[in-house]
Amino acid sequence: MKVKASAQGKLMLFGEHAVIYNYPCIVTTVSPRVYVEIERNMSQLIIDNPQVRDNRFVEEAVKLFCKTYKVDNKLSIKTYSDFSSQYGFGSSSAVTVATILALSKLYRLKISKKEIFDLGYKVTLNIQGVGSGFDVAAATFGGTLYFVTGGKIIEPLLIEKLNLVIGYSGMKANTTKLVKSLKPDFRIFEDIKKIVDKAKITLINGDWNKTGELMNQNQKLLQELGVSTEKLDKMCLVANQSGAFGAKLSGAGGGDCMIALIPENKRKDVESAIIKTGGEILNVKCNI
Ligand code: PMV
Repeated sequence: MKVKASAQGKLMLFGEHAVIYNYPCIVTTVSPRVYVEIERNMSQLIIDNPQVRDNRFVEEAVKLFCKTYKVDNKLSIKTYSDFSSQYGFGSSSAVTVATILALSKLYRLKISKKEIFDLGYKVTLNIQGVGSGFDVAAATFGGTLYFVTGGKIIEPLLIEKLNLVIGYSGMKANTTKLVKSLKPDFRIFEDIKKIVDKAKITLINGDWNKTGELMNQNQKLLQELGVSTEKLDKMCLVANQSGAFGAKLSGAGGGDCMIALIPENKRKDVESAIIKTGGEILNVKCNI
């Protein structure tokens, strides 16, 4: 019997970096998914994982799952993805969660979302050594979440459709390296926390003007922290000049993506301004 499961990628809306140090963040899911197919075989673990950067996440997920639930690991696993792992959409956490989901289907085990999150978080920590787990939570729970480090709080936020433009700055930063090398600045993290807590309310209320303002404030603090780049700053600036409510980098920084919250009628203007600065628009839906 072959079973299939999938999990979504993510985008950080507010609170990156601070969330490593026991502060909250807000994360949302994106429409592209990572898919995992599993069937039992007679010999050994075989992984066919062409699109996701490395096999370690699938291997570690299988290892921990089989050990925890005392099931067999003679499995053939195939993964495929709607998105390239080059974009910071969280392909590693999505493939981890999809593997755990597929295994629980294969072995007909009823496992709660929190158990899936805990196991998935352990997998990513075992491999990366650092990480808040926000990406694992997004892949597990979906939608938009208020999240505190390690899953101390995972609170779904009921918000309306998020109109975001996502601009890729053309270079992929190494999140683990960046996180490990960043000197924590708790004054900045405290300020980021205040923004995250305000954004939680403005998002629920659909107050896009205020949410955009908070994104700009968060971006300023990320600049101060030293994780933004000239290109990301420029992309955020032109997005704001073209009618966005606000814009910020999303994720670890040092490259990768920025996001702009927009009134839908400004989408074309904001997108072309970002393209003119050399950014690439990634067409995905959010908060689903
Ligand atoms: O680079 P991304 O999209 O994986 O985001 C990293 C966000 C950090 O807060 C810097 C790390 C984390 O695990 O929370």
